[in-house]
Order: sequence, then structure tokens, then C-alpha cells
Amino acid sequence: MQTSLVESGYSNIDNTNNPTKYVRRLDKQGATNLWQGVKAQMLSLLEVGKGDSVIDVGCGTGSDVRAIAQIVGENGRVVGVDSSTTMIQEALQRAKGLNLPTEFYVGDAENLEFPDNSFDCCRVERVLQHLHNPQQSLLEIVRVANLGARIVIVEPDYGSIKIEGADPTVTSKLIKRRCSHFRSPNIGMQLPLLYKRLELEKIAVTVTPVVNDNFEDNHEKFLLSKYVEPAVTIGLVSAQEGSKWINDLKGAADQGNYRHTISLFLVSGRKPDV
Ligand SMILES: C[S@@+](CC[C@H](N)C(=O)[O-])C[C@H]1O[C@@H](n2cnc3c(N)ncnc32)[C@H](O)[C@@H]1O
Repeated sequence: MQTSLVESGYSNIDNTNNPTKYVRRLDKQGATNLWQGVKAQMLSLLEVGKGDSVIDVGCGTGSDVRAIAQIVGENGRVVGVDSSTTMIQEALQRAKGLNLPTEFYVGDAENLEFPDNSFDCCRVERVLQHLHNPQQSLLEIVRVANLGARIVIVEPDYGSIKIEGADPTVTSKLIKRRCSHFRSPNIGMQLPLLYKRLELEKIAVTVTPVVNDNFEDNHEKFLLSKYVEPAVTIGLVSAQEGSKWINDLKGAADQGNYRHTISLFLVSGRKPDV
């Protein structure tokens, strides 16, 4: 069994065969309408103002850190933390010469090395799904948040995946396997309750169904291969079953009957200010 196929590479980018592949992947995703829309929604909920201090936990290449740094101005502070040295080096490189109030650190979302009450806004996008203990990370985020700080998180709910267009028995096996690729596949769905347990205030939840029905889209092809390849490698389905599944989906797409859906949870709240 190839262990690299068992767990998402995002959980430990630096230990993968090709860490810079993840840099390119984030760039591609960040350029799509979907993720640009999500980032804009998060920014609006964060209510970032001039002079604010902001943390982006699991900042990747630092694109959101740089965008937010333009808003906070020279008296503000925007910190990006990521467990991947590759990502942090890339983020530092991209911030060079921009003269923005950005800082980047290699660090662990479950153990943030900042004092209590340090940040006015905390953002986390597509990171908690990759952690063993996302609850611990949320505790840490609330700890480093200032009283009254805005905490905005976006995570998918892999339990919500539906794929229409091929044998449902094979599909359900492949979806189950896909979910186990992530350390915390259901964190999106769990976030609202976790916010309540931590007694955050003004909790708002937006659930967005992401529907893909364009089989020829490159990202779609990539995504579907992520269902099949690991399942074939561990012997869950045979190579023939895997390629039949893809071909059936393609046939369904030709009739307009292919669909892949997953829900994204966007959850915002405030740390109580008393
Ligand atoms: C899907 S990427 C999202 C990056 C960025 N938030 C964005 O939206 O462009 C997930 C990021 O989480 C980081 N990550 C994974 N485990 C982490 C941990 N324990 N602590 C901090 N960052 C982590 C990865 O290195 C990766 O950069």
C-alpha cells in the first residue's frame, strides 16, 4: 500500500514527493470564481479595518494575508501561519518588496505560538479538515483572538458528497474512501456546534452547495482521479471497475446526467468581549 495515497498531502506538504505541486494547486484554485467568491465573503465577515491585527491560520502561499495587509495599512499587522516550510518560504518570497505589514511563520494550527488576546480577526480556510484535532485548533484560535474579535472559518463537509451518473454501489465505496483521505472530513458540518460550545457570539452559518457538472473541466478530471487511484491502489475496487466508473460518468455527462456536489460551510462568530 502506498501511504502517500492514504492521507491528503496537505496534512504534511513538506513530506510529499513534490511540495511545490501544492503551491501551483493553490494558485489555480485561488484563481477560480468559486474560491474568489468564498474569499470575498470571508473578508466581508471579518470586517477588517485600518490598524487591525489579523491572523490567517494555514495561510498557504499567503495570498489572503497580502490582500488583507492592503486594508489594515501601516499601523496594522497581518500574520500568516502554516505548518509547511515550502508554503512559508513561498509566502515570504511573494511578500518581498511589497512593503506591507505582513509576517509569516512556520507553526502548528493546534499550538499557536502567540499570547492570549493578540488578534482582532482570525481566518481559517480549508485547513481544519487536515488536522487530527481541529477542536484543539479552534480552542487555540479563540485563545489568541482579542475580546470581540471576528473568527471566520470555511471548511467543506465531505460527508455531503453526492455523485450522480454511475453504479451507486461503486460510487458509495469510492466516496467513503475519499472521505478517509482527510483527517477530519466532517469538520465543516461540526463547526456551528463547536462555535456554540466555545460560547462564541453572533454565530452565522452559510452552507453553499458546490455543484460540478462539467466533466471535461480539468479540475473535474483531477478530482475524479482522486477518487479512483487511491481506491485501486488499496484494492478497494479493481482497475477495470475504476475505469468503468469514470467512463460511466462520462457517458452520463454526455446525456447531461453527471453531477458532483459537496457542501461548503462558512461559519463566523465573535469572541465575547466581557
Ligand atoms: C488547502 S490549503 C489552504 C491554504 C490557504 N488557507 C488558502 O485557502 O489558500 C491547506 C493549508 O493548511 C496547511 N496545514 C496543514 N496542516 C496544518 C497545521 N497543523 N498547522 C498549520 N497549517 C497546516 C497546509 O500546509 C496548507 O498550506
